[in-house]
Amino acid sequence: MKLTADRMYVFPDHFFAGLNTRIRELQAQGRDVIRLDIGSPDLPPEPQIIEALKRSAERPNSHGYQPHQGLLSLRQAWAKMYQRLYQVDLDPEAEVLPLLGSKEGIFNLVMSSVNPGDVVLIPDPGYLTYNAATLFAGGEPAFMPLTIEHRFLPDLQAIPKQILRKAKMMWLNYPNNPTAGVADLDFFTKVVDLARDNELLVCHDAAYAQVTFDDYQAPSILQVPGAKDVAVEFNTLSKSHNMAGWRTGVIVGKGEVIEQLHALKTNIDSGQFLPVMEAAVSALNGDQAWLDDRNLVYQERRDTVLKYLAQLGLDAQISKASLYVWCSIPEGWRSAEYAAMLLKGAEISLTPGDIFGAHGEGYVRIALTVPRSRIEEAMRRMNNAVQVIGG
Ligand SMILES: Cc1ncc(COP(=O)(O)O)c(C=O)c1O
Repeated sequence: MKLTADRMYVFPDHFFAGLNTRIRELQAQGRDVIRLDIGSPDLPPEPQIIEALKRSAERPNSHGYQPHQGLLSLRQAWAKMYQRLYQVDLDPEAEVLPLLGSKEGIFNLVMSSVNPGDVVLIPDPGYLTYNAATLFAGGEPAFMPLTIEHRFLPDLQAIPKQILRKAKMMWLNYPNNPTAGVADLDFFTKVVDLARDNELLVCHDAAYAQVTFDDYQAPSILQVPGAKDVAVEFNTLSKSHNMAGWRTGVIVGKGEVIEQLHALKTNIDSGQFLPVMEAAVSALNGDQAWLDDRNLVYQERRDTVLKYLAQLGLDAQISKASLYVWCSIPEGWRSAEYAAMLLKGAEISLTPGDIFGAHGEGYVRIALTVPRSRIEEAMRRMNNAVQVIGG
């Protein structure tokens, strides 16, 4: 009996599953692998957030199913955050829906919006879930190259007219994973105009909007007047508040789209654990000054990486935001080989750029999610490996 549905075969191999196995094997041999591959924050959230979780979990009536829309106080807290950071008004009843992490919402939004054959515009390189969900829904991905020449923004003029006519949805993600590129409001304004002219839904993934350096502030697409008519934005506490394992995110913006996602989710999940929601309220409403200190930690790590990469003669942009440095590899290497060489020869794990799409070839992504001393150790090892192997 064949137990796997045909639609399961649309997924490409999951790179990180294979990598975890290889790393476990190395660790079993007693090797000390430095992981600069996955973007999971290594620092904890503020103690008051954990206190809020504990207080709530200790109440006997905190353990039942919760409404799919989540707590009103949580929707209000997200709306307040959008008001505070972006001066964007959101209706907590119709324009805000909490998610079990933004990944869940990204996947399910594609499920609730895309019909077989619908074209979906996806950045290349890009976060893998946009493509995986599109394929699972039977949609047709149309990739928008992100190149250094266009500052890792899609060239909107270069999208072929016939693709635009057929496209239903466009995915964007700024600050960007994996390139660390950023978008300004002028770019978002052009996107909103394009969406209006072509009846496109724009889905902006703002997962890294609050991980920013050097006084940079990332805008929200919803700051563009009228954006709510054509756009939704995903947000999450995973990176912004060091809460990746808690699984708490949100979708905000165009109400009709959010209502469809809500309808789908009533068939899939059964709401979010109340203590997680109450802690999320505390995270969003509490003092945010600690985020600046945390961002300084990442900024120092970024500077350390950049300093060593420059010594190695490798080209990387100065990331203004995100958890990553996107680094060109030497000519003659392919990303996968280069990353494999560093894992084998130096026990450093980086993410090869090509796993994010064809335009990621020629790059590796370095995550800033380990302490600076470990980054320094990794960079020293990289230097030695490159001297020996000639990379
Ligand atoms: C661009 C991007 N979007 C979304 C996510 C998912 O975040 P969450 O933890 O909210 O599901 C990630 C996680 O790495 C990401 O890089």
